[in-house]
Amino acid sequence: MAIDYLRLSLTDRCNLNCSYCTPLEKKGFLTHGELLRHEELARAAAAFARVGVKKIRLTGGEPLLRRNIVGLVRLLKAIPGLKELAMTTNGVLLRDLAGQLREAGLDRVNISLNTLNPATYDKITGSAALEDAWDGLMAALKGGFSEVKLNMVVMKGVNDAEVRDFARLSMDFRLSVRFIEFFPTNRRSAYLSHTLFTTAETRKLVEKAYGPLTELPPGRGSGPARVFRLTGAKGKIGFISGRSDYFCGSCNRVRMDCTGRVYPCLFSPSTHTLRDLLRAGADEDALADHIKKIFLVKSDYKKDSPSAGHIEMSSLGG
Ligand code: GTP
Ligand code: 5AD
Repeated sequence: MAIDYLRLSLTDRCNLNCSYCTPLEKKGFLTHGELLRHEELARAAAAFARVGVKKIRLTGGEPLLRRNIVGLVRLLKAIPGLKELAMTTNGVLLRDLAGQLREAGLDRVNISLNTLNPATYDKITGSAALEDAWDGLMAALKGGFSEVKLNMVVMKGVNDAEVRDFARLSMDFRLSVRFIEFFPTNRRSAYLSHTLFTTAETRKLVEKAYGPLTELPPGRGSGPARVFRLTGAKGKIGFISGRSDYFCGSCNRVRMDCTGRVYPCLFSPSTHTLRDLLRAGADEDALADHIKKIFLVKSDYKKDSPSAGHIEMSSLGG
């Protein structure tokens, strides 16, 4: 599978503390000097585009915490060869930024929102920001993006009772609601393994409430999700089954964190980096050559690689 999709983490900081994401050991945040600067990120991104990347998804941490995010979006959008620029955010800061981000060239937004209940939101995220996240979602829907997706990690005993309400959102809004299987990635999330609520269980709840789901052909940008529609719905429903399914064979992704470490697979060790080349002022050719070498080892890693279980979604952005 050709690698044409880069997930670019812009910061390790987040304004939420989600139970399934934040690491158990507080290591402290990166210093300003450790973060790649806008210009370095853009140079790396251009080199990725040179070797075939057509889509970049900005992640975090929380990408909207990155200073002058609108300017960075504008810089990245101008990269030749890039067809799509997207972002995954928790939406808390999106209300005031959606319009500017769209205007700067951001094409799509995915919003992580796991509950519509303020007390449950507090419990999952450690923050009373549900209203801000909801306003952010609404601003995205009004903002003229080509697609808005909502990500709900379904957790047994935490938010599984809300599956119907989330499915309902796909009836009422032009929104792709995606139900995601919780995936243990670090020591903290390993404690939450028992909360796994499978795609099969979620799908049963949705169909019981709203009737049969019709599967849609895998469109461009559906990623690891299988996508469906409820009869009469404005939006779609997707399932991302990282636990019960195996999609390594169709993976077209590579990741880079905000320090320049490149992960050819979500489960590869953090041994590849562009940082030194970037800081030595390497040109796009040299960066592209290095990236090509990293791409060659992608197939060495997969879901059950020994390095699996040591990734921090909080800094690598899922
Ligand atoms: P698009 O297809 O661009 O919309 O992206 P996406 O749905 O992959 O992105 P998003 O950031 O919204 O992530 C949704 C969920 O998919 C998260 O839980 C990610 O961790 C998960 N995910 C994304 N890529 C992979 C992958 O390569 N492997 C696994 N196991 N999960 C992934
Ligand atoms: N399992 C499944 N999804 C996760 N995300 C973060 N951590 C996990 C996990 N352990 C999701 C976030 C966000 C996306 C980038 O990844 O909720 O929507």
